[in-house]
Amino acid sequence: MDAIFSGIALILFLLLLFKLFSSVNTKKTKGVPPPSPPSLPFIGHLHLFKKPLHHTLSKLSSRYGPLLLLHFGSRRVLVVTSHTLAVECFTKNDLAFASRPRLASGRFLTYGYTTIGFSPYGPHWRSLRRIVAHELFSSGRLQSLADTRAAELKCLLRQLFQERTDKHVFTRVELRPKLFELILNVLMMSIANKRYCGEEKSGRFFDIVRGTFTFSGTSNLRDFLPILRMFDFIGTRKRLTWLESEWESNLQGLIDEQRMLDRDESKKTMIGVMLSLQEEDPEQYTDRFIKALFLSLIMAGTDTSTATLEWAMSLLLNHPETLVKAREELDEQIKHGRLIEENDLPKLPYLQGIINEAMRLHPATPLLLPHESIQDCELNGFHVEQGTILLVNAYAMQRDPEMWGPNANEFKPERYQEISTDLSKMMMPFGMGRRRCPGETLAAKLMGLALGALIQCFEWERVGKEMVDMEEALGMSMPKAKPLVALYKPRPTMIDVLSAI
Ligand code: HEM
Repeated sequence: MDAIFSGIALILFLLLLFKLFSSVNTKKTKGVPPPSPPSLPFIGHLHLFKKPLHHTLSKLSSRYGPLLLLHFGSRRVLVVTSHTLAVECFTKNDLAFASRPRLASGRFLTYGYTTIGFSPYGPHWRSLRRIVAHELFSSGRLQSLADTRAAELKCLLRQLFQERTDKHVFTRVELRPKLFELILNVLMMSIANKRYCGEEKSGRFFDIVRGTFTFSGTSNLRDFLPILRMFDFIGTRKRLTWLESEWESNLQGLIDEQRMLDRDESKKTMIGVMLSLQEEDPEQYTDRFIKALFLSLIMAGTDTSTATLEWAMSLLLNHPETLVKAREELDEQIKHGRLIEENDLPKLPYLQGIINEAMRLHPATPLLLPHESIQDCELNGFHVEQGTILLVNAYAMQRDPEMWGPNANEFKPERYQEISTDLSKMMMPFGMGRRRCPGETLAAKLMGLALGALIQCFEWERVGKEMVDMEEALGMSMPKAKPLVALYKPRPTMIDVLSAI
């Protein structure tokens, strides 16, 4: 027995020596690493890994500072909780941090890490970004799809109008599925000229997309403790494999349908655009390439926009005075009882302030998406090694009193009237730099239009006297824990408009 203990003690002693030697060596040759709180042997800081991760990391940062180097098992994780430092990551060091880590949670639904959001930095990712920027989300194409967005918005308003119980009485509605349908339909109409509400066949695809969002993205303990991956306690792997094959067959079905169409007809959809590119270069733009691209866009676009709209409506219901002001702005700017249009959005700064506040206080991706350094770099005088995961705590940064004042945690759309600096110097709900969200313009148009129309067309109230519960749930984006249920009735001045759509 004594011999065993002596053996273990010797190994631990040698490990300690090795660690000491290597850290002294690192300091000598590579510069000083960022500060790191005390950690445990082997697991590093994994014992601190509690969900929701952005709250745990906020607490750590308020204790140890805005730049922290953590060790999640064998992975180095750099946590940034200051806007200035985050800007340094995505300007001076943008190329260094342009990649994504290959986390175990990305093994499913990423076509082997080849989707735009999960792809490592390199020619494949650059090619995807080029296509998205120049072909799919160019300003010309977004403009050409304005009618689709308007038509889908009308579909939502019509549904709400028809489902009301009585003209004069408030009706109860759970908003999340309605908003989700709106966003998914806008995307699917643009991608494949398909709508997914109410149709029996399509309801299945709707369930697949929705089902996919119940699985978490970045903050997954299995990503850092390989041993946990051996266990599949709740059938997660089985369900993900099923979802993956459903996505595969549905997306292939959409491609095949578009392939059958006359080329001029199919060019109107994003899949059609990709099929034209495929004709020019079939090696590069394979069906797999196209499926991976659209899976990524649907996944990245739907839940984020739905969650932001739901948070915005919840904030408004808890602040009826803001709702009144927003409606006054809409009535002032959009006369003659017509419905809001995208062109009206620049004239509605207060509405924009509400959306900014929703994204500031409840960012859809509180830690952005994880980045990974592809080369060594210097950050605020500290040395960051290649292969380090970067987590930017947008949630904490956007509630930082030094940046946002003593009322940083309060919902105040008015604050933007006093801010003269460019907003990107204060917040980054869509990220920044090379990996910045490519769907930002589309999301801004959609959210402005949808929120504006809901406020313009209906009166809204909370169910009962209780405030809307603002607890956050765990998930790929940061949805509300309890779906928002609200009361609504058409505004008398908008009944004619609503009846006509
Ligand atoms: C409120 C709505 C949205 C928010 C708040 C949002 C936010 C973000 C954020 C924070 C990132 C990560 C940036 C980083 O890595 O630093 C991202 C990436 C991405 N977003 Fe969005 N997004 C929204 C809507 C959309 C929409 C509508 C689409 C497209 C339909 C979209 C497509 C993507 C894609 C493809 C990426 C990955 C980019 C890459 O890795 O190169 N997003 N988004």
